[in-house]
Amino acid sequence: MNKDVDLLAKHLTPNARVTVLTGAGVSAASGVPTFRGADGLWKQHRPEQLATPEAFARDPRLVWEWYDWRRQRIAACRPNGAHEVLASWSERYTNFTLITQNVDGLHERAGTHHVLRMHGSIWEVACWTRCAASPLRWQDETVPLPVIPPRCSYCDGLIRPGVVWFGEAIDPGILTRCHEATRCDVFLTVGTSAVVYPAASLVQEALMRGAFTAEINLEATPASSLVDHALHGPAEIILAEVDERLGLLRGSGSR
Ligand code: OAD
Repeated sequence: MNKDVDLLAKHLTPNARVTVLTGAGVSAASGVPTFRGADGLWKQHRPEQLATPEAFARDPRLVWEWYDWRRQRIAACRPNGAHEVLASWSERYTNFTLITQNVDGLHERAGTHHVLRMHGSIWEVACWTRCAASPLRWQDETVPLPVIPPRCSYCDGLIRPGVVWFGEAIDPGILTRCHEATRCDVFLTVGTSAVVYPAASLVQEALMRGAFTAEINLEATPASSLVDHALHGPAEIILAEVDERLGLLRGSGSR
């Protein structure tokens, strides 16, 4: 067993308070496109044309066509080994928090409890004008959408995707819980390029609060030089190896 994996597994003791921050890389093996990198979504589109309130105000049809395409793509994907290991940890550890920047819902589909979704959900929608009759957000998993742009069933105005766009604030309640979760024993950042804030600052916060910090990513990121331990490789393989090592430690009675 690789000694890098071993070191991380040794910190994941049964009573450890564990917080994991994930990004698009955890869903890559499921077939969900990431944002940056050679085949990333932001290579083909500019974020300001598709993922800002201004873009939606300018061209709601274009924005919804892109979200409808992503929804169809994600609906055809299944959780992978990385989601599954994290879901099992969410059951095993009493103090486990999963913070994700992903909007695809694959952590929930793998059975992870109490996911903190920093950037919302692609499976939720909200009234664009926040009409008085509508809830703040509601679930809509229709794929493909029969009408683009879709209309609000409460006021017949436009609805928008239930995601956080560039320039928008993250739900303050969720943000507070994310900050609270940096008070932990092990903070693991997985499959994120660590360039989008405030998510990218959480690892530093955890470090300052005394957590053992580790990164799992295919390549080096700005977080790599900050963390105690950087493991480079596919999350679905490394997490499975860590989990296997945890099983061996439990079996040997050393925990
Ligand atoms: P990015 O696309 O920026 O980064 C994905 C990261 O995953 C990269 O660092 C890859 O090296 C890594 N990666 C890819 N495949 C992997 C694998 N199999 N195992 C491990 N790592 C892998 O995605 P995020 O960091 O999630 O925000 O992006 C953050 C935010 O920027 C997104 O939530 C989105 C985007 O713009 C909004 O839309 C508001």
